[in-house]
Formats: sequence, structure tokens, C-alpha cells
Amino acid sequence: MKSLVINGSEIAYVDRGTGLPLVLVHGFPLDHTMWTGQIDALAGPTADSPAGQTILSAPPVRIIAPDLRGFGHSLFSPHGDEKVTMDQFADDLAALLDALAIREPVVVCGLSMGGYIAFQFWRKYTARLRGLILCDTRAVADTPEGAEGRRRMAERVLREGPAPLVETMLPNLLAETTRRQRPELVERLRSVIMAGDPRGIAAAARGMAERPDMTAALGQIGCPTLVIVGQSDVISTPAEMRGIAAAIPAADFAEIPEAGHLSPWENSAAVNATIVDFLARHNQ
Ligand code: MLT
Repeated sequence: MKSLVINGSEIAYVDRGTGLPLVLVHGFPLDHTMWTGQIDALAGPTADSPAGQTILSAPPVRIIAPDLRGFGHSLFSPHGDEKVTMDQFADDLAALLDALAIREPVVVCGLSMGGYIAFQFWRKYTARLRGLILCDTRAVADTPEGAEGRRRMAERVLREGPAPLVETMLPNLLAETTRRQRPELVERLRSVIMAGDPRGIAAAARGMAERPDMTAALGQIGCPTLVIVGQSDVISTPAEMRGIAAAIPAADFAEIPEAGHLSPWENSAAVNATIVDFLARHNQ
């Protein structure tokens, strides 16, 4: 991984491959490693990455996969932000693209919280966007009770560390079959969550609690959009995501079998094939 100081925070990121820039934005409370199946397959494996299927994308892609500020290898802001809004995360993405001298329009692919950020990137940086891929995410804002629950969870994580998130979130992040049949994936997910910086987790949770409702804006999304959902996603359900796709004028919709909320991780092969097909069809 490389790192750069972006908007005052040290941001770590993967930059692999050459071609159409594809920005992968991870969910909460994760890091870029949730996209390993996409990075290795679409931009090509390196000597130290695990062997996986390589279905190099046509058009070829340059993958930019950051750890958002306060997650993974990206440091919590030295300014001690108590809250990082989806807007600020989107600003970080734009500034990272600037720092990498990527001026051409990019495809932004975000999962769940990454999708909330992708919506804000679309709202603020429409001209920099060539396409959107929305994975297992929601357009609605939190209910007041949901937002309050997040703020309470933020306090709890600051006191106790990330363990309460493993307890409350993990069962909902994965399909029941994934939990039963793929203990190594469950263990990897647990360790990513447990390695999180409580300050980064709390700040993002408070930011998500304030995110705007994007439902009314969906009809204005003019770029090619792909909406992906795991068939067994209980957080952003297939029915809800089908509704998001229906409200966006130029959206494709794909339901991924054998996957829950973390569809790109749980069924990388199916998600990769869907992304490659989408990129190929909109490569002009
Ligand atoms: C995520 O996967 O990013 C979370 O489920 C988002 C959320 O808690 O709303």
C-alpha cells in the first residue's frame, strides 16, 4: 500500500493496474481488503497476493482502493474529528484523485457506507463521474431512533473497542450459508473489525447518522449506474435495492446468489463478472 496526506490525514490506498480508473470504497467498519477479490481479478494479482481467478477487465482498469480516514492503514485525523460526514469522505476521494493526477472521469463503486459516500461524490463531483456502482447500500437516511442507536454505539466503541460491533453487526453482514460454510471468511471479517481504530469507527458512525436522504435525488442520477445486491442481504434488501435501481434512469440491477450484505467479498466471481460486463457496455 502507498499513502499520501489528504486533507490533513494520512490516507493509505492501493493503486493497481492501468486503464479506466475504478475507485472502490469500502463499507463500515471495514477497510480496502474487502475488495481483494476485485483488486486481484480486475487489476491483476501481484506476487504476494493470494492466487485467485484473474478475469482482467475489458476495458482494463486502474483500481484505486483507499482505506477511508480512520480505517485500515489510514490514520485517524490528527485534528481529532469527532465526526466524519459522508461529504467529507467524498472530499477525501476527490482530493486523492487530484493527488494522483487522475483528471479523467472515474467509476466509483461503493459498498453500503461506501455507497452513501458514492452518492455524495455524485452530488458534489458529478463531472468527475463516469459511472456509479452501488453495492448493498441504502438511499434513505437513518430514522431518528436509528441515528440515536449509532451515536450510542459510537460511545460504546470508544469505551470498549470494536468488540460490540462484532457481536451486533457480524451476523447481519454475511449470508447464513457464508457463516456456516466459510469459517475462514468469518474469521477474516472478525479480525478486520477488531483491528479498527475506535475513534475512526465512532467518527464514521456519527457521520452516517447525519447522512442525507438521497431518495428524491435518485431520478437525477444521469451516469450509467449498476446496482448490486446479495440475494440474502438483510441490511439493504434486494427489494429495497431493486427500488433504488428502478428510480435511477440508467441503472442495471444484479442480484448476487450465495451472498449477503458483503456480496463482493462473499461471491467475488459473480460480482466481478457483473462489473466487467457493465464496464464493457459503457466504455465509450
Ligand atoms: C456498512 O456495511 O457499511 C454498514 O452496514 C452501513 C450502515 O451501518 O448503515
